[in-house]
Amino acid sequence: MKTEYISWSREKGYEERELLRAANILRKGGLAAFPTETVYGLGGNGLLREASLKIYEAKGRPSDNPLILHISKREELDSIVKAVSEKAEALIQAFWPGPMTLIFEKSECVPYETTGGLDTVAVRMPAHEGARQLIASAGVPIAAPSANRSGRPSPTTAEHVREDLDGRVDLIIDGGSVGIGLESTIIDLTAETPVILRPGYITKDMIAEVIDEVTMDPGLTEEKPDIRPKAPGMKYRHYAPKAQMTVFEGKIEEVIEEINKRASQYPAEQVGILASEETKQYYSYGQVVTAGSRKGHTIGRGLYGALRRFDQLGVEVIFSENFSEEEKSEAIMNRLLKAAGQHVVSLEGK
Ligand code: TXA
Ligand code: MG
Repeated sequence: MKTEYISWSREKGYEERELLRAANILRKGGLAAFPTETVYGLGGNGLLREASLKIYEAKGRPSDNPLILHISKREELDSIVKAVSEKAEALIQAFWPGPMTLIFEKSECVPYETTGGLDTVAVRMPAHEGARQLIASAGVPIAAPSANRSGRPSPTTAEHVREDLDGRVDLIIDGGSVGIGLESTIIDLTAETPVILRPGYITKDMIAEVIDEVTMDPGLTEEKPDIRPKAPGMKYRHYAPKAQMTVFEGKIEEVIEEINKRASQYPAEQVGILASEETKQYYSYGQVVTAGSRKGHTIGRGLYGALRRFDQLGVEVIFSENFSEEEKSEAIMNRLLKAAGQHVVSLEGK
């Protein structure tokens, strides 16, 4: 399949003809990748089972891993879910449109192909203007997982999407670099107490201000094999670079010293170091990649691009600083530790 490319920008929006073309592809069951404020999504008509099956195939993703339905207006929610509770309404008021996905009981019209066989459905209204305009033009809820091949880091630029999906989808919309860079916060509203299934830009504290009680899925942090994350997608070794990565916990000076020591035991071209703008100067050996600036709060936005960079460099091992003190560290550290397969070395008390 030959993939078409069109673009969207904040200043110019879409070219009318191109927007209609993209919306038409989606409505008729084709696939179009598009930017959102979190990461790029791989969109298909969420009410057509064939479209969902095509999404799984293009991503190379197991079909038991449910998709998120993206809507452009609050009214579109009512036809795809059974009921909207008071708590849900309060969260919607506070955070939609925005980087928050809510899980509801699904209504009949949502096919099991979209929900990975579950009776619940995940829904999000993105803040990205171009995304909402596309969904509104298509006139149907758009199922969209992150637009990466399964097992690769989520795409934060159209170039990342091209690397993974060129020739596998009908169209890719280039909207430049995304703003947030980590996937939406997922909140399960089907239990008595709402549960965060995936941390994101909307933090637990922000949610607790709106609905008082919310818990974190223990499967996200527990190391016991019998406690599994509730979001099926969180159990896969996702977001992963090809090299084995180790994350060092502890004071930054000690982390830098330890990384320098370990790096020197490998040939320089085979060892990757994940650092920040503020700390990169302390490494003079190995392939140093920065995720972003600690002071400028751009680590979240740059993390996935940095992981992709290591794949291009072809390093064998990666040593990473931790970003536990950063803004939104809940989400950043969750993705970093998953990329490392939970491989952490603690220098605390050493
Ligand atoms: O920011 C985002 O959410 C991006 C953009 C494109 O909107 N999308 C995204 O989709 O990250 P995806 O498919 O890569 O991740 C969806 C996650 C998976 O971990 C999946 O298992 C979980 O949501 N999920 C979806 N429906 C669910 C459900 N009914 N119950 C529990 N988890 C669900
Ligand atoms: Mg994903």
